[in-house]
Amino acid sequence: MHFHVDGAWGPTLFSDRYRGRLKGIERADSVTIDAHKQLYVPMGVGLVLFRDPSALGSIEHHAQYIIRQGSKDLGSATLEGSRPGMAMLVHSALKIIGRRGYGLLIDNGIEMARRFASRVDTLEDFELVSEPELNILTYRWAPAPVQETLRGADADLCRRINEVLSRITRTVQKTQREHGKAFVSRTRLTPERYGRQLITVFRVVLANP
Ligand SMILES: Cc1ncc(COP(=O)(O)O)c(C=O)c1O
Repeated sequence: MHFHVDGAWGPTLFSDRYRGRLKGIERADSVTIDAHKQLYVPMGVGLVLFRDPSALGSIEHHAQYIIRQGSKDLGSATLEGSRPGMAMLVHSALKIIGRRGYGLLIDNGIEMARRFASRVDTLEDFELVSEPELNILTYRWAPAPVQETLRGADADLCRRINEVLSRITRTVQKTQREHGKAFVSRTRLTPERYGRQLITVFRVVLANP
């Protein structure tokens, strides 16, 4: 068995305050980390760390004209061939921002997400769907009387109401994007409170210090 963790948000480990939220990650055989998320480097810098570096040998590949056997080229263990030296972005950012700097940025992102969540909570026609454990939260528009009806509804009524709310969420999200002034992404979730029914929600990532 190989235990892999999608740790796209793994840099939370740099935060003394919030590191505990990733408890268990230390048991992984491999962890993916997206430096273009909480390490704040430009898009496209995803990496995977292996507990046993020789595990990479299982996907190693070579050619006669490039990434030859015995060469130190990391390309022998990646899907891409020729590519830019993206590792320099991570190396430089770690030198310039450093562990303490990342701790501050990450704490700030998580705290901003919490502020956003409390704001949503005070608006009675909005429903906070997932509390921000890290710097991400989801919510949707659901008028207070509709939320009240949902609380007492049977499974069928609940499903019908949620389908309408999901259509509205998609329309609002697309309209906002088309207006070009602000952008909130959307996703689909299966919250326990609605019997694991698939619903569409707004998804916000607070990742801009
Ligand atoms: C947990 C998780 N894994 C993977 C991804 C996808 O990352 P990428 O676009 O770098 O492949 C995301 C993107 O938000 C994510 O949140």
